[in-house]
Amino acid sequence: MAADALLERVAALRSEIERHNQAYYVHDQPIIPDAEYDRLFRELQQLEAEHPELSSPDSPTQRVGGAPLAEFSQVTHGVPMLSLNNAFAEEEVAAFDRRCREGLGVEVVDYAVEPKFDGLAITLIYENGIFTCGATRGDGYTGEDVTLNLRTVRSIPLRLSGTAQPEHLEVRGEVLIFRRDFEKLNQQQRAAGLKEFANPRNAAAGSLRQLDPKITAQRPLRFFAYGVAASSAPLPETHAALMAQLHSRGLPVAEEAAAVSGLSGLLDYYARIGAARDSLAYDIDGVVYKVNRLADQQKLGFVARAPRFGIAHKFPAQEALTTVEAIEVQVGRTGALTPVARLAPVFVGGVTVTNATLHNEDEVRRKDVRIGDTVSVRRAGDVIPEVAAVVLEKRPGNAREFVMPATCPVCGSQVEKPADEAIARCSGGLYCPAQRKQALLHFASRRAMDIEGLGDKLVEQLVDHDIIKTPADIYRLDLGKLVNLERMAEKSAGNILVAIVQSKQTTLARFVYALGIRNVGEATAKDLARHFGSLDALIGAGEADLLQVSDVGPVVAASIVRFFAEPHNLEVIAALRGAGLAWQEGEAAAVVSSAVVGKTFVLTGTLPTLSRDQAKDMIEALGGKVAGSVSGKTDYVVAGAAAGSKLEKAQQLGISILDEAQLLEMLKT
Ligand code: IVH
Repeated sequence: MAADALLERVAALRSEIERHNQAYYVHDQPIIPDAEYDRLFRELQQLEAEHPELSSPDSPTQRVGGAPLAEFSQVTHGVPMLSLNNAFAEEEVAAFDRRCREGLGVEVVDYAVEPKFDGLAITLIYENGIFTCGATRGDGYTGEDVTLNLRTVRSIPLRLSGTAQPEHLEVRGEVLIFRRDFEKLNQQQRAAGLKEFANPRNAAAGSLRQLDPKITAQRPLRFFAYGVAASSAPLPETHAALMAQLHSRGLPVAEEAAAVSGLSGLLDYYARIGAARDSLAYDIDGVVYKVNRLADQQKLGFVARAPRFGIAHKFPAQEALTTVEAIEVQVGRTGALTPVARLAPVFVGGVTVTNATLHNEDEVRRKDVRIGDTVSVRRAGDVIPEVAAVVLEKRPGNAREFVMPATCPVCGSQVEKPADEAIARCSGGLYCPAQRKQALLHFASRRAMDIEGLGDKLVEQLVDHDIIKTPADIYRLDLGKLVNLERMAEKSAGNILVAIVQSKQTTLARFVYALGIRNVGEATAKDLARHFGSLDALIGAGEADLLQVSDVGPVVAASIVRFFAEPHNLEVIAALRGAGLAWQEGEAAAVVSSAVVGKTFVLTGTLPTLSRDQAKDMIEALGGKVAGSVSGKTDYVVAGAAAGSKLEKAQQLGISILDEAQLLEMLKT
């Protein structure tokens, strides 16, 4: 880089980073995702490292956080609240481990490892066990006095438990909001017509820095401790023991914390927590490794703004910036039109994302997403990527608003949107090829008619070539029709035809589910089959009859009546029966009674002879229900070998526990 360009780039990075510091730390309103910030920060760090003559004490790399908010009184931290260096790649962790080993002159280092909470750092001072002062990090040296607000956080003890308390104890940790509490908080904000928070961290920061503690008190803030900055009493030997001591004094610490040895211990922990990330109650953005022995920590000391004895190993970002190239509309099985953002490809949450759902038209308006906008895209775990927020300041002059089309983009039918619904729908029904494809895929799916091999690509071709219009046409397929299709060898065509024939022998519940009646999922289909016993009884049922079925309410009843009132649907059903689809028809369930009717079971562990599915089918066939988790509504838990937490929970709740023999006995009575 030429000298001028270099100077310019460094200056631009410094001012850009400063601006984001202000937005993040002072106004709790970040403009860009963390990963983007990290990228800018690293670029600046690197340029400064390559050109030491450019380093400057007022560079953002030389300090942490932002200036404290003027409205709060200030607290000077006795021990500065520094930050941790980040590692993204394994090599960086290996280098950290090497530095620790060399610094301490040992072969293997023992580490304390814990989640990296994605909240905001605070410090708590306890005098003789009494909470006297709490402050934010601020610029690392001076923070805001938020004692009154912190006193409203229930997980922060106002008095420590136990007898011998140090005269002075300064605890460091993080304030955050659990994900499920965050969802509720945003629902409340919506209901009150207030702005929603972008993520739990912003909500936590905004809630803690309220000038009125009454508002903070209404927010579901929590605290986790991760360190001690100062103590008048001697400390235990290790960080892990120190955390255990804090815990015994009534301070929350991460349950996931552990102690490991060496680089492999660190990397195993990273993988383990990474896999559990989505099931944790709170957001984390990585894990933190700390040399476990406190004396060793002291020996290693600090460099610039971070300790040498610790490092944050970050997970791949779950949020990244990209641009919206178009907003298109997708048509689902029930005709629902979903706006989808087509994005410039971006790597987020470990994969390259090119589409993100925008859910519905109201959502597009609420988030104010326009074509041409720069947006932050979020992808957590297996969740479908979504547009989290628009970066308004990057909106180009020619950004275009999205308009829901008046006609279906696939079949041209009128689009309908009842005033009280968020979803616009194509009115074309099975005339619409998009709905037809989805309906056929649903019909053939594993839990419906279970026709193996009749997947996406094949249905696509069959509908596009007009070979199949309704599910009944599936049973008119023959080798001649299939082998002419793309990528269809005779052998796989044969397999599909066999699967089609096999699917003819089915159950009433599967058949009802396969029909794809709106609001009738698998469980409802089972209830209906059990209640009515035969298809004709179900077809003839009025709304009042349907309301007799457990879990069927007016909305479901109305959908069912509407479905069977449609002559086209009855024709398809007649054709399917004509093609030889058959199931065992029985008496209506009302006359059958068994000991399991209406009871809810949970299966856990391995049963000696029955598979999970077999046990489930038997219970359901006799009118019982099978749930996935134990709750107050569970009547029985059926436990086999190696039953785990579900069994424990059942014992705690005093729920009856059965073994396989007892279950079979019960099913017989
Ligand atoms: S220890 C000298 N442990 O990460 C700093 N920090 O970049 C020692 N954080 O400001 C910090 N979880 O807000 C530590 N388990 C953890 C953490 C953690 C989250 C945050 C903290 C700090 C930032 C450091």
